[in-house]
Amino acid sequence: LVLVVDFGAQYAQLIARRVREARVYSEIVPHTMPVSEMLAQNPKAIILSGGPSSVYADGAPGIDTAVFTAGTPVFGMCYGFQLMARGLGGEVAPTGAREYGRTAVSVSQGGTLLADVPAAHTVWMSHGDSVVAAPAGFDVLASTTDTPVAAFEDVERGLAGVQWHPEVLHTEHGQKVLEHFLVDIAHCRQTWTMVNIVDEQVEKIRAQIGERGQAICALSGGVDSAVAAAIVQRAIGDRLTCVYVDHGLMRKGETEQIERDFVAATGAELVVVDAEKQFLDALAGVSDPEEKRKIIGREFIRTFEAAEADILGDSIAEEGEKVAFLVQGTLYPDVVESGGGAGTSNIKSHHNVGGLPDDLEFELVEPLRTLFKDEVRLVGEQLGLPGEIVWRHPFPGPGLGIRIIGEVTRERLDILREADAIAREELTRSGLDRDIWQMPVVLLADVRSVGVQGDGRTYGHPVVLRPVTSEDAMTADWARLPYELMERISTRITNEVREINRVTVDITSKPPGTIEWE
Ligand code: XMP
Repeated sequence: LVLVVDFGAQYAQLIARRVREARVYSEIVPHTMPVSEMLAQNPKAIILSGGPSSVYADGAPGIDTAVFTAGTPVFGMCYGFQLMARGLGGEVAPTGAREYGRTAVSVSQGGTLLADVPAAHTVWMSHGDSVVAAPAGFDVLASTTDTPVAAFEDVERGLAGVQWHPEVLHTEHGQKVLEHFLVDIAHCRQTWTMVNIVDEQVEKIRAQIGERGQAICALSGGVDSAVAAAIVQRAIGDRLTCVYVDHGLMRKGETEQIERDFVAATGAELVVVDAEKQFLDALAGVSDPEEKRKIIGREFIRTFEAAEADILGDSIAEEGEKVAFLVQGTLYPDVVESGGGAGTSNIKSHHNVGGLPDDLEFELVEPLRTLFKDEVRLVGEQLGLPGEIVWRHPFPGPGLGIRIIGEVTRERLDILREADAIAREELTRSGLDRDIWQMPVVLLADVRSVGVQGDGRTYGHPVVLRPVTSEDAMTADWARLPYELMERISTRITNEVREINRVTVDITSKPPGTIEWE
């Protein structure tokens, strides 16, 4: 275990991912955690992340210098580097010159940390203060024009640091430097793999659910719930029941993927609830986006709880026994952002659903709580789930209901499903699936425009392609799709979907636009 101490910038999660890419398990802890508590977890190493502040600013987050003398190897990056320098008697000063973005660094001696790294290379920096004198016992390894001490190490004590951000993509040799620290200075063993995760989680889940427990899991069609369910299935077999609510708002082929491919790959018990009519009736006449979302959310809970009651209705808990478990695909970023630890959740969710015994209490099972999205995909592959599920782009819970601008009807859904299937097929064929975060296709159902198709004048609807690139959906840029690809999509949609006579592309970044149109 390597602990990444988060000093409040957005870098901690990225660092934790890079450490895991080096096949060493890592977790994030807040800088407010007492050092004694960090050390009690017996970490192999501690990494101090970058942060938004100057070490001299009022209220700047700090760390007890005991962290540097406990004998546990410590690596400081950016702000963490300055904390280390100052904490051990070096000197940090505002140099006046701020370095942001790409910066050239020159390596004077490789030492252990920068071994085999070219003498001149480019790194990503963002700092105002600089280390002007390293603490006693440290070797200075590199500098930049404005920063006399840009990297140092004291291999004997297991301490090292760099002024730059080795974790970001724009830093050359960043991963190599991180691995030099992890392997050559901290002597971590590189044994963290997806196989271990599956085995470990299966054991944990067996212990949590026990001999008699029953679990249920709502499948959404997405990767998180599918992988969570597949792990639990491995652990407890047919005591897990998966529920898939078909609300009629899915894309072409997605329901079949779950019914056929997911079940074939996992052998899971699956209950499909056909609720299309119920959802469409509830949505009739509604075009306000928030209203639609509310209705879909409400109907979903109703349907799921009714299925739950059917499945678990007979489970009567004996005194002190837990028999009902709810599987959820919660990921590590959600856990970190809500301030929780990475251990098993103790949250109890109390359902008072008609049909269920009053004292039936659900406990959450969250096998993905320690994982990042990219790791979940690798676990999914490891478990043999179909590629279409493992690599599926994010898709919103309310489905196509929020991609039809205007009232949602069966006929409109069918039109959008056809257009969307063509766009996805062409995107996949072009090999760009993994470069694009998402490409919603939006039907402007209340807009019509004049066109000519075949011999006659048409008065059809436009669709909007919304291809975006993104790291986390918080911000996004519009994707520069190749013209040839856009041409193929446009030609095919207007030829093959009679009701659509115009294809447009949304070129708005987020912000100001959101990814979805509603
Ligand atoms: P926006 O449109 O806010 O979307 O930029 C950000 C990301 O969230 C997805 N999204 C949803 N996912 N339920 C979901 O599970 C929802 O109601 C929902 N609304 C938006 C969207 O597809 C994008 O990935």
